[in-house]
Amino acid sequence: MQSLSLPTFAQMLGALELECQSFNLSLDTRRVSNPGSILKRRELSDEPAGFEVFRQIFSTEIAPQLSASNGGRYWGFVTGGANPVATYADWLVTLYNQNVSKGGDSVASDVERQAIEWLVSLFELPAGFEGVMTTGATAANVLGAMAARQYAGSRQGIDVAKAGYKDLDCTVFSATPHASMVKALGLAGLGQDTWVKVACQSDTEAMDTQELALKLRQCTSPGKVVIASAATVTGTDFDDLVTVAQLCREHQAWLHVDGAFGIFERLLTGAAGRTQGIELADSITLDCHKWLNVPYDCGVFLTRHPQTLCATCNVDAPYLANDEQARPFMSLGIENSRRFRALPVWATLLAYGKQGIKAQIQRNTAQASALANWIAASSEYELLKPCNLNVVLFSASASNKHDTQSLLAKLNEAGQVFMTPGVWQGRAAIRCAFSNWRTEQADVELAISELARLAK
Ligand SMILES: Cc1ncc(COP(=O)(O)O)c(C=O)c1O
Repeated sequence: MQSLSLPTFAQMLGALELECQSFNLSLDTRRVSNPGSILKRRELSDEPAGFEVFRQIFSTEIAPQLSASNGGRYWGFVTGGANPVATYADWLVTLYNQNVSKGGDSVASDVERQAIEWLVSLFELPAGFEGVMTTGATAANVLGAMAARQYAGSRQGIDVAKAGYKDLDCTVFSATPHASMVKALGLAGLGQDTWVKVACQSDTEAMDTQELALKLRQCTSPGKVVIASAATVTGTDFDDLVTVAQLCREHQAWLHVDGAFGIFERLLTGAAGRTQGIELADSITLDCHKWLNVPYDCGVFLTRHPQTLCATCNVDAPYLANDEQARPFMSLGIENSRRFRALPVWATLLAYGKQGIKAQIQRNTAQASALANWIAASSEYELLKPCNLNVVLFSASASNKHDTQSLLAKLNEAGQVFMTPGVWQGRAAIRCAFSNWRTEQADVELAISELARLAK
């Protein structure tokens, strides 16, 4: 690293300032998505090219081909933007470059613990919940599957982390798990295809709890796991978590709730709203890079059984010896070396406070309602489901000259807004999810005019 002529901090900050300015100016005009982007082929050179060459190639070849997913009109998947405070905090994360594997050498682990405590308070969860920041909801779901597996093993006298799972008898139940949860079950050795599908209530993706009760009663496995949703990614449906938790207690099943974005609903209707019962879960997944609008990547895994999580992930080696009282994060998650991703979360919670975050959730849900109302009133489009949070689910109606899939392709091709496909009750659908702090009413109006234009 020494042979390069290195830029000074002043030079880097000057370059960064210019980059920030041109990025901000471009957000309104840049294509929201860049599907045809191409990276020029280059061989790895022997000679150092240096900082200036990198900078120049980035701004001429890479930056113009990046998407505006950080802007207010990217509504695919469930995508947050990086809010300004979190963006600044994330720059500091890189500057200080802490390794938050264990405490003892810095305050970084305390910041992560406090950020998790604040999230527990933000979502009105009981104080017993502890956790760890992850790379996202997928990694948190992996921890959910592994902790559940450890618990299932303990019911059969098997320490799965130590002895492996070959003798484990564990059955997993779920109605509409997110694809990442299915992947997590595979990674945990519980099987992508072997979980038991519980029927949904009619016209929703929410679990039929009577069928869950029946299936749990019939199950002979000593280890039982229920994966519930708050909310599902397509229908924004919430399982009846109070009933599910009650059944889990009766049958000694581990309850994992994927609340990647739906847990933020709690800020709208409180602990007695649609997420009621999530506080009874054994473990919870949530994502901060979604509706908390911190930069990628940042999810959170919470559990009321940190000792089970620690038994699952414990790492022991003399050179990692740790004499702090609190559990080290490297023994609560997948990685040993870990980014200080807690800082942007801590900074966001501090700077915006509960009220600021709630106001953001309210703005996005109002924007979703406005689009849904327009679609419901239009003859060219069909609202497939009442919008009950931040996702608008719709299709082309019979009078539209395009079918739903080609309509979505044309909409995204135009580059003004970006939405993603879905399937609702067997029908092709367009999903439009609002979760970015930058989205304004004018963006919704632009989407409406795009949809009207395409239908003509
Ligand atoms: C309910 C749910 N769970 C899990 C995920 C996966 O999240 P990530 O991409 O952060 O891993 C998503 C992403 O949209 C989601 O909506």
